[in-house]
Amino acid sequence: MTLIDGKKTAAEIKQEIAAEVAAMTAQGERAPHLAAILVGHDGGSETYVANKVKACGECGFTSSLIRFEDDVTEETLLKEIKRLNEDETIDGFIVQLPLPRHINEQNIIRAIDPAKDVDGFHPINVGRMSIGLPGFVSATPAGIMQLLKRYGVETKGKHAVVLGRSNIVGKPMATLLMQKANPGNCTVTVCHSATPNIKEICRNADIIVAALGQPGFVTADMVKPGATIIDVGTTRVADPTRKSGWRLRGDVDFENVAEKCEFITPVPGGVGPMTICSLMINTLQARKDNPYK
Ligand code: GUN
Repeated sequence: MTLIDGKKTAAEIKQEIAAEVAAMTAQGERAPHLAAILVGHDGGSETYVANKVKACGECGFTSSLIRFEDDVTEETLLKEIKRLNEDETIDGFIVQLPLPRHINEQNIIRAIDPAKDVDGFHPINVGRMSIGLPGFVSATPAGIMQLLKRYGVETKGKHAVVLGRSNIVGKPMATLLMQKANPGNCTVTVCHSATPNIKEICRNADIIVAALGQPGFVTADMVKPGATIIDVGTTRVADPTRKSGWRLRGDVDFENVAEKCEFITPVPGGVGPMTICSLMINTLQARKDNPYK
């Protein structure tokens, strides 16, 4: 069994990015600039955004954090997005999700200039990815593809099962895995809450990407010996032995599943660090090699 070390891989990639940024700035060019809009004070979102700002520092990027309270109107957010779209010193920006219920998330995403949509959530970026055109690819699936590539996981002709059909992870993951590319070229099955025989489908999988948000869902009896398991789950579960009172638990029963696998990602330290790293790759691309310019 090989443990796919996302933390180590992400650190390596961030060093590669920092070297590129140092070379850019040495030539008198401006460093990439990422802005993040954070609405409210949700603990998870605060942590994610803080980690994104920290990663910008590690890569030599400039970052801006723009905060609004929970009662912000959609109109105010749209105005801020317009301002960021027009600000030539900002290469890319994100609006941290989820947003309060009174705000229509799709309206917000559609307002972002696709050339600055480093989250890859805009329908134009989603469409470009699905037909294999250059654009920004959603960070979690892009990070998983990097891990498959860097660990030399054979994907061609394999049966990949994606658990979950979210717009952020499941759907783009399935699209990338089926793309005629390397990594890619998989036969893909997407399972979701209305799939009746998930266990049997998983038993036939060479690769499982678990993105359901159900801790420990993938058990050893669902895994074919020699499979590759990618765990996207990051649910906070109570842990009285920790000072914080909680720990992160993935969608995979790691203790029992790991010994059956050829490759497996841990939680934490697997997909999570790679997600932020992909956002950094997208931001560098927005600055240096923007597919829209
Ligand atoms: N919420 C959970 N994941 C993400 C992400 O990748 N980007 C944004 N903007 N919000 C998120």
